Amino acid sequence: MIQTDRPLALVTGAGKSIGRSIARALHERGYAVAATDCDLDAVQSLARELAPDGASARAYRLDVRSAADIARVFGAVEAEMGGIDVLINNAGVYPSQPALEMGEDDWDLVMDTNLKGTFFCSQALARALAKRGAPGSIVNIASTSAFSARAGVAHYGASKAGVVMLTKSLAQEFGPLGVRVNAVAPGLVEVREGLVSPAYRDQISTVIPSGRIGTPEDIVGVVAFLLTPEANYINGECIVIDGGFLTGRFVQRAAAGVA
Ligand SMILES: NC(=O)c1ccc[n+]([C@@H]2O[C@H](COP(=O)([O-])OP(=O)(O)OC[C@H]3O[C@@H](n4cnc5c(N)ncnc54)[C@H](O)[C@@H]3O)[C@@H](O)[C@H]2O)c1
Repeated sequence: MIQTDRPLALVTGAGKSIGRSIARALHERGYAVAATDCDLDAVQSLARELAPDGASARAYRLDVRSAADIARVFGAVEAEMGGIDVLINNAGVYPSQPALEMGEDDWDLVMDTNLKGTFFCSQALARALAKRGAPGSIVNIASTSAFSARAGVAHYGASKAGVVMLTKSLAQEFGPLGVRVNAVAPGLVEVREGLVSPAYRDQISTVIPSGRIGTPEDIVGVVAFLLTPEANYINGECIVIDGGFLTGRFVQRAAAGVA
């Protein structure tokens, strides 16, 4: 087993985009990181970048849709890196399908990744922490789609609304064990060039009070904060990170001809 005095964070979907940024930020803030993803190459490159000697970051292939895979990987991480202290349930998929055309496989892919995966990873961590008698913390990555519907992603919105309620339910069940469970709900985050067209970006920016869509950096600091002792009494909460998008029907006063 590696020797490190860093607390250990397991991040799902850490291969790219928001998950990769979270894993980097936690490593910078003093965590050892078990970087997991169904894309092993992606997390291997991250682990090499963070810790070429493997002492404070390692990569694991984990498909969060499988409870058996979760049990296997959590066991391997504990054996090789030590007890896991915090978990970031970030792995998620967001394909678009009109509800009239949505098939059972489409529905299951989104639910199994976003909701079932979040539950079984959380259960695996809480069981391990209870066994060690150690405190811990979980942050789930929800979405503003949990609160505000968007045509074409009925399965996604339902899965993220489920994540928000799961956060509250697990906060109640795990709180007495010393395990806090919180969530963040990002609005649209431009994780890669071309994710949205320039026209769409311009249009949506006009209905966001902060005047722009989000970046991964907008998300990672809040996630890291929720893990700190300063957030010790925040439990079962979902913090919306959306530049004010969900505040209501925002119309820029000047654009609307209002003084
Ligand atoms: N990008 C956004 O606008 C946005 C907004 C709100 C919430 N979110 C949420 O943030 C999280 C990350 O989103 P992103 O934009 O960085 O996504 P992304 O598609 O860029 O990256 C997702 C990562 O998760 C991995 N992954 C997918 N299915 C997996 C599985 N079954 N098991 C393990 N890993 C799997 C992928 O390989 C990839 O590395 C998701 O939960 C998403 O719903 C994203």
